[in-house]
Parts: sequence; structure tokens; C-alpha cells
Amino acid sequence: MPLRWCFPGIKRAAISGGRGKLTNVQPAPDGRDLIFPDGFLWGVSTSAHQVEGDNLNNQWSAWEASGRIKSGDRCGGACEWWTNAERDFDLAREMGINAMRISVEWSRIEPRPGVWDQQALERYREMLRGLHQRHIRPLVSLHHFTHPLWFERMQGFLAADAPALFDRYTRRVVSSLGDLCQDWVTFNEPNVYCAMGYAVGLFPPGRRGELFTSMKVLAGVLRAHARAYRAIHELQSGANVGWAHNYVVFQPLRPGLPFDGWITRLHHFLFNHSFVGAIAEGALPLGFRRVAGDLSEARGTCDFFGLNVYGRLYVCFDPRKPAQLFGNILVPEDVPQGDTGAEGPLAEAYPGALRVAAAYAARLGKPIYVLENGVPDAQDRIRPWLLVNALGELHAALADGIDIRGYFHWTLTDNFEWNDGWRLRFGLVELDPASQRRTMRESGRLFAAIAKQNRIPSELVRRYSGNGTG
Ligand code: BGC
Repeated sequence: MPLRWCFPGIKRAAISGGRGKLTNVQPAPDGRDLIFPDGFLWGVSTSAHQVEGDNLNNQWSAWEASGRIKSGDRCGGACEWWTNAERDFDLAREMGINAMRISVEWSRIEPRPGVWDQQALERYREMLRGLHQRHIRPLVSLHHFTHPLWFERMQGFLAADAPALFDRYTRRVVSSLGDLCQDWVTFNEPNVYCAMGYAVGLFPPGRRGELFTSMKVLAGVLRAHARAYRAIHELQSGANVGWAHNYVVFQPLRPGLPFDGWITRLHHFLFNHSFVGAIAEGALPLGFRRVAGDLSEARGTCDFFGLNVYGRLYVCFDPRKPAQLFGNILVPEDVPQGDTGAEGPLAEAYPGALRVAAAYAARLGKPIYVLENGVPDAQDRIRPWLLVNALGELHAALADGIDIRGYFHWTLTDNFEWNDGWRLRFGLVELDPASQRRTMRESGRLFAAIAKQNRIPSELVRRYSGNGTG
């Protein structure tokens, strides 16, 4: 699909420029190691609710309490980060990881409106100090799908004062942690949060088929993001602020059929482009401008583009599915994929998605951090293959001149995977939640070797050169 179609108003960004751009990227001549630029970040990403344990005051704990987790699992102590995140920080250091994305849990920090928990903030300070002591650069997300129950009860980001409340929370966090962190992700995947909560109904509040409401929520998140962006810069000179965007490669199932192509483009446009377009142009696309109201305050509010990329989905026209915009989304059986979730397969594990997503993101003209990429794979069947090939694609994107500063794998140890609970395992390290025993997977050793050398040895490129299905 021509990318220009998705960016009607944006000029092609100068992808060769950029302050602080990492250099030293060479195209990959056959048979040579793939060398990454000096200063490249090798990270892992996590989120508070998925790893901390015992978060009982947010909308996901209420979702779980009302029996909505599809796998039937309990989050429980998760990876016990609230009491001992340092065990995993040690592991990360041993693996040569030099950056880590964590999130802070709003419901711990502000358990009731306007009431702040100093001890919770102190625990986050301790974690950040722990990362620095291990020479790991922290990136902190302010909202990773969860927020306090009181905020959910007042309609979350549909409420008129949501941006002001998020702004107040952001200021408290940045004033308390700002001396220990400069890199901030305001929101994780606003497109997933809105689509899953208001159109698909698989995330709280579990509303289905409400496309216009989901766009209204997106507008609320955009306003909250824009205010947080400005608040952080006001409080911290030199802050680096962005958001994490979930990018899906949508592919027509039957490329010869025009209907499949049109519906695919529509899905791409609404899912991949709405939030990005508003950051670029200060407005939501198509008829959603009217629902969203004026979003000009969002224009230009990012210093980097955080990219979360998992794979490819196939779209085919289906006149019986008006609530899904006449599109059926599927994953063919014969493509490489990870373990199947309670609701079916997640996506094709497609290494090339990284290069496609990076080319799209580059058009915003900001540095890019790949903030999530991975696959659910308890037996490590395809993760090593995916890792080496996705990093190969990322290296090719760097050689194309795209300004990518780091790669963060999702995730370090298996953690609580939302509706799939403990059923889907994304970790480089296997976790037994009952005993809390950690066991390094082959992919963990591979990632460590690559991160430590800042290169993919040619021997690994050769070893994993298949198509992932064999
Ligand atoms: C989310 C993570 C999640 C991962 C794997 C991402 O969309 O940000 O929280 O665990 O996907 O499903």
C-alpha cells in the first residue's frame, strides 16, 4: 500500500538527519556480522500490572474479580516486582541489557482522587535507582492499560476532566522521579486500549461495536497525552517524551479482490494511523473530526516515536460483519505463529513487520525506539528465529537511513498476559509463577549474546535463515 496515502498532510521526513542520530550503520554484505550503531539500546519492556503483583485497585483487577479473564487465571503475585523487581534487574544486567521500559501504576500512586501514596513513589524511586546501579537506562510509561478504579468509575478518558486529572498525576510522578528518569512514554498503545475496550470488548470496560465512542476515547487520550507532554517539558529540561504505538501490518487475504484491498486499507487507516495522524496534524481522520472536537493541542507533541510491533494480520471483506467494518481478520494456518490465545491466534509472527513499521514511523521525522516486539512461545519453538530475523530487518531499516535508537523485546520474564493470564508466555526467561523460579530460554541466551556484542554474528544469521515454519 502506498504509504503516502496514509499521510496526506505530511511531507516525507528527512530520514537522514536528526539530532543525536546514531551512526556507523553499514549495509549487510553477505556473510558478515550485522553490526549495530554505537550507543544502540538493547532493552526489554514490562508493565506494572503484568509484573508487580497484588495491584487490587485498578480496572483490570475488577475485570479479573468479575471473572472476565478468558484463561480463568489470577494475576496474584505476578512476577513479584513490588517486593523484588531487583531479582529481574540482576538477570537483565547479566544478559547485557542496557535499557528497560517499566511502567508506574497510577492506582498505587493516587489510590483515591488527590490522595498520594508517598511510599509507592519511594518504591519506584528505589527501582529506578536499582536500574541505574546496574547501568540500565530506564524508560517509564505513565499509563500501560491500567488506571485507578475511581478513574474508571467516572468514565475514564471519556470524562471531560480526564486530561486535567492525568496532567495532575503526571506532574506528581515527574516531580517525584524526574531526577532518576528522562525518557517518558505517556501512553502505551492508545489504539489497542480504545479498540479493545470500546469496539472489540475484550478489555475493560468491555463495550463492543462502539466505533464512535472508541474514537471519542482516543480523543480524550490524545488530549491527556498532549497535556502530559507539555507538563513533563515544563518540569524537566532535556526530557524525552513520546508514546508507544502498536503497529499491525494488515494484508489483504485475497490480493486480487479489490474489496479485500479496500477493507484492509480502512483497517490500516483507522488502527495504525488515527493517533499518529492526530500527532502529525492535530485532527482525527475522516468523519471522526466531528466526534473528537478540536485536537490541535496534540500537534507535534512527541520527541520520539515508540513502536510496538508484533506481526501481520490478514483481512477479507465480509458483508455480514458491519460491526467489524465489513472485515474479517484472520491468521492463516500455514504462516509462522506463536502459541494460541484463549480467543485464537494473535498474529502471524512476521519479522518483516519491523521494517514496514519503521518506514511508516520514519515519516513523522522523529527518532524511533522499537519498544515492543516478541511472540508468545512457551517452548521457544520460533522465538529464536523471530528474534534473529526481526533484528535483521531492523538492521536493514537502519541501513535504509531510518533513525532507530533501540530495540526493546517484550518481555524479560513471562508475565501476566491480560485476558490470556499465564497461558501465553512472552518471556526470554521462563517463569513458574507458583515457585517464582526463573529459567533462561534459548532465545534469552541469544538475545544476551547479541546485546553484549552489539551485533548479530553472521553464523546466527545463517543458522536462522529459514522461513520459520520448518
Ligand atoms: C502490550 C503488552 C502485552 C503484549 C503482548 C502489547 O500490545 O503492550 O502489555 O503483554 O502486547 O500481547
